[in-house]
Amino acid sequence: MAEEKQFLLFEDNLKTLDINNRRYLGSKYRLLSFIHQVVEQNCSTNWDSILDLFAGTGVVASSFSGKKLMTNDILYSNYLCHAAWLGRGEIDEKKLAAFLTEYNQLNVSEENYMSENFGDTYFSSAVCRNIGAIREDIEKKYEEKELTFRERAVLIASLLYGIDRIANTCGHYDAWRSKEDRLSCLELFMPAFQPSFRTLGNQCFNEDANDLVLKVSADLVYIDPPYNSRQYCDTYHLLENVARWEKPKVFGKARKMDRNHLKSRYCTREAAAVFDELIQNIKARYILVSYNNMAENGNARSNAKITDTELLSILSKRGEVQVFSTNYKAFSTGRSWHPENEERLFLANIK
Ligand SMILES: C[S@@+](CC[C@H](N)C(=O)[O-])C[C@H]1O[C@@H](n2cnc3c(N)ncnc32)[C@H](O)[C@@H]1O
Repeated sequence: MAEEKQFLLFEDNLKTLDINNRRYLGSKYRLLSFIHQVVEQNCSTNWDSILDLFAGTGVVASSFSGKKLMTNDILYSNYLCHAAWLGRGEIDEKKLAAFLTEYNQLNVSEENYMSENFGDTYFSSAVCRNIGAIREDIEKKYEEKELTFRERAVLIASLLYGIDRIANTCGHYDAWRSKEDRLSCLELFMPAFQPSFRTLGNQCFNEDANDLVLKVSADLVYIDPPYNSRQYCDTYHLLENVARWEKPKVFGKARKMDRNHLKSRYCTREAAAVFDELIQNIKARYILVSYNNMAENGNARSNAKITDTELLSILSKRGEVQVFSTNYKAFSTGRSWHPENEERLFLANIK
């Protein structure tokens, strides 16, 4: 994705980043024009709000400028990034830029939670000491009311994006590459806030999607759940750990914390039943679902949990369904691309 990363300078040599400048499994950044085309050609023009229920990076919600943007994700690390990019609170960009510049000059020698648990794994010990010290300082500044909730979210998001850029992995925290591949320098960038993100009463949530839909409504609900048995909390445990900063015990070679409370039912055999419950409870004019065609194409872990027949029959209970498709490259555990893989959008026009 290197070609998508175009960093600009903010002030004092502080580079800026965009919402899509991170590696994320299943990110729909490359599908945005397809999604917009389907919405523009098939939904009426007078709709006002979008709820991105499984928002991941938040790129889909953020692309609908001029609408009320609502995001949700079960992972707190994603929620903080949404709050940073799309949240409502005011932020003092000059103050944040000064903190980020300070963090970029750190060279910490004392050990801390990060170096003790992750030293010489995904990062060198020196980088871990800096990550731990920065995260601790953000929390201290927040507790001492030097930062608002959204400003804290901006600094943590900048740290998470910075970690992602140098982690010695393919972007998933299951294993690390050889020591020689480790980058030695952590550099934090300033999020480049787009005026189009500052729209009407944005809201960010951090809940199980099935619980949230009982409480909120939107004109367009966009649904992009995990397709297969790979749990996002397993893949991104390290980012979640840094975001939560509860300093839990970590286990095994990959140094994962206990993640039982973060497991998604969409990655299990219950997926179709859970999806049915979700769809029947949604209050919206349109439901747009992303789902690929990997039902039986990949290896066992890549196989989609919900079949096309199930998707169609569940959505049809709510109204007329149209299906749109495009070729899209899918990532598999073998790190190979399946060019024949197709990404589909199912649009239900609610009765
Ligand atoms: C395929 S990704 C979404 C990618 C996103 N559309 C993007 O463009 O970045 C699925 C997301 O659903 C989240 N998730 C999984 N189960 C969930 C649940 N029950 N409720 C809310 N979010 C969930 C995962 O943490 C993950 O970020």
